[in-house]
This record gives sequence, structure tokens and C-alpha cells, in this order.
Amino acid sequence: MSKKSIQNWWAKNPMTYGETHGQTIYTDSSHSLGTKEFFNRVDQEFYSWNQPLHDQKPFDRLFPYKSYKNKEVLEIGCGLGTMLMNWAQNGAQCTGVDLNPTSIEQTKKRFKTHKLKGNIKLEDANHLPFKDNQFDYVYSWGVLHHSPNLDVSIKELFRVLKPGGGFGIMLYNRESLYQWYMTDYVEGFLHQEGKFLTPLELSSRYGDGHKEEGNPHTWPITKKEGLDLVSPFSNNVRVRVLGTDLDCVLRFMLPGIIDKTPKSIVKALARRWGWSLWFSGTKKD
Ligand SMILES: C[S@@+](CC[C@H](N)C(=O)[O-])C[C@H]1O[C@@H](n2cnc3c(N)ncnc32)[C@H](O)[C@@H]1O
Repeated sequence: MSKKSIQNWWAKNPMTYGETHGQTIYTDSSHSLGTKEFFNRVDQEFYSWNQPLHDQKPFDRLFPYKSYKNKEVLEIGCGLGTMLMNWAQNGAQCTGVDLNPTSIEQTKKRFKTHKLKGNIKLEDANHLPFKDNQFDYVYSWGVLHHSPNLDVSIKELFRVLKPGGGFGIMLYNRESLYQWYMTDYVEGFLHQEGKFLTPLELSSRYGDGHKEEGNPHTWPITKKEGLDLVSPFSNNVRVRVLGTDLDCVLRFMLPGIIDKTPKSIVKALARRWGWSLWFSGTKKD
């Protein structure tokens, strides 16, 4: 799968968190891509998908903002810049890279309209133009499983991170209800797509952007595969399953039943078979 086709697909379908990837207007708002109001609407949607990850501030259950005030933070695959903006508003010196020009243009606009400073660059996760050990904290959210060379991107991430620096990496979970039910069972088996598509094609088509079609590369991993890739660089890597998607999947699987299921059961399922794996820790000294 060529880098160009991945770049082009995401440029056409940037992560606006609407009904479809890349939608440039929300039905409940007349504001269009590039305006402050549009970014606010994108963020509202993004935050609502990830409610359990916020405490006082968006994503503060994931990100140790306070420890990295005035420090250099890098996001790999910044999309429209929602998460990076939060880092900037919490005092970090932010750099964001993404492979597609639409995301870069829009993230620059976002930073400008919010009067924030940031170094936003069009770059590939596999070839980062930064010095070894440059950043204090590096993270990536829902990006590196779109790279056909996941091992190379992980090595690059740790190359540019300082020893002792923190990291966070979210990758899709192959051992999840979303993968088993929505992709493998509904699409692969019931709709017979498995007869025509390879497992990679099936996951790419139904892992991200099924309404827009043609997502070139999405390959969810297992916890063990992720740990094998990250552990050589960290002595304290921790992996959590984040199942913020779980009630949507259960609603689809068991309509009518989910609302009667105790929340504690849904949470327990989410912790085990949710769609996102969050690897975090610090780089070996
Ligand atoms: C699902 S979006 C996630 C964006 C953002 N992190 C968010 O959560 O909204 C995936 C992003 O990864 C970017 N991407 C894909 N492959 C990449 C690569 N090799 N290097 C950098 N960015 C990449 C895409 O352009 C897209 O913006």
C-alpha cells in the first residue's frame, strides 16, 4: 500500500468526527471547516465519544499535562488538532505532525484562531525530521495502525523521545467486540465480504471510514503484539483497554437489551474487549 494513497485518502476524509470522515459541515450548525465554531463542534463530538477519559479537563485521565508544562510535546498524526490544542492550552510547547495536508492546514488554522503557538508540520510517522531524544513527551492517538510499517513508526517515536520521557500510543484492538462482531461476523461472515476481501482489506474497509469506503490501511493489533513492539524501549509500559465504543457495539448487537444491562457489566466488558489499546509509560534511561 503506497504512502501516497494513504495520504490522499486522509486528505479527502480528515477526522472531523461527524457522521462521515471529512464532512465539512454539521447538520446542526452552519459553520464550515476552518472556523472556530466548526472546531468547537468537532471537539464537542470528539469529547463526547471519550467521556470516561475526562476528569477536570479533556483527556486528563490519559495525559499528565501538569508534568509537561513548558516542555516539548509531540503528537504524531494530529488530525484536526483537538488533542494537541489541549496540550498547548495546558502550557506545553507543541509540535504536531500528520501525513495529510488538509490536517496540517486545518490544525494551523485552529491554533491561529485560538491564538496558540505550535509547530505544525506535514510529516510521515516513519521518517520524523527531529533529532534523537528531542521531546519530553510523545503521543499518538489512532494513527500508527494506518501505517503499513508499524514497527518503523514505533522505533521513530522512541528515537525522538528523551530517555525518561513519557509516551502514550493508542492502537486499535484486534481482540475486541468491534472487530469480532462488526467486522469479522457482520461484514466478513453475514455479508460475505470475507469471500472477496483479505483480512487486511476487510479491517481497512470496516475499521475506519466504511461509509466513505476505500480506507487503504487499518490493521488492528493484539495486546501482545503491541507489547512486543513497545517493551524493547520501556521498562514500565502499561497497557489499558479503552472501551468507549462498547455501548454502541452492544446497542447494535442486542437492541433493546443494552439499556436494561447494568452499567457495571458494560464497563467490565469495555475494559476487556474495547476497541482501543492505550500503551503508556516512560522511555528507558
Ligand atoms: C483516525 S485519524 C486520527 C487523528 C487524530 N489523532 C484524532 O484522534 O483525531 C488518523 C490520522 O493519521 C494520519 N496518518 C496516517 N498515516 C500517517 C503517517 N504515516 N504519519 C503521520 N500521520 C499519519 C492521517 O492523516 C489522519 O489524520
